[in-house]
Amino acid sequence: MSNDLEKAAAARAAVEYIEEGMIVGLGTGSTAAFAIREIGKLVAEGFELFGIPTSLRSESLARKLHIPILSLDSAERIDITIDGADEFDPYMQLIKGGGGALLREKIIAYNTEKNIIIADHSKKVSRLGAFPLPLETIPFATSQIKTILEDAGLKPELRMDDDQAFLTDEGNYILDINIGHVSNISMLEDELLHIPGIVDTGLFLSTTDIIIVSSGEEVEIIERHP
Ligand code: 5RP
Repeated sequence: MSNDLEKAAAARAAVEYIEEGMIVGLGTGSTAAFAIREIGKLVAEGFELFGIPTSLRSESLARKLHIPILSLDSAERIDITIDGADEFDPYMQLIKGGGGALLREKIIAYNTEKNIIIADHSKKVSRLGAFPLPLETIPFATSQIKTILEDAGLKPELRMDDDQAFLTDEGNYILDINIGHVSNISMLEDELLHIPGIVDTGLFLSTTDIIIVSSGEEVEIIERHP
């Protein structure tokens, strides 16, 4: 089964959690786009819901599908968010931000009642870190931050978009770092967030409630136990 078929199967399973009238966070990336298209089908069938996109890209797809959009500040709650991930581990910890939307994704996840992550089998890892960890940084501070991270052995790379620095929806830069050798990820997260100019990291350590991972013909649902 191709990764796209697996992504579509996970997306269909996630969309079953949506109930009439819900406010739904719309994730970013190729897997989340499958979910947005499924949500578009619900809307076309007359299902009432509102979407809150985690990126301009997802907003544009949602608008094409006529999904009613709410802004974060006008929503009194977010019931469910369906988003993708670059990696997830057995503790439901994630690396996100491969698509550059980590900051808005983290804000939406933090404010969501039930966070559902959808993934094909390639995203499941025994420990995080094969995928580079994205850090969203203020342009003014980025070269100093890069030096600090180089000195710490984290091999930062400024993300590029052709020959320009990649810009996030908030107008920030992204430094991708190598954390494959790091054993205490939550300590690293604390240390990174103490460096002025790092706005946020792509580590999502405790926000996920459900992971739906599709592998071949099988769809596995992993739930967080309190
Ligand atoms: C975007 C993200 C995406 O969810 C992540 O990069 C996975 O993308 P894809 O589904 O295309 O593999 O965090 O910022």
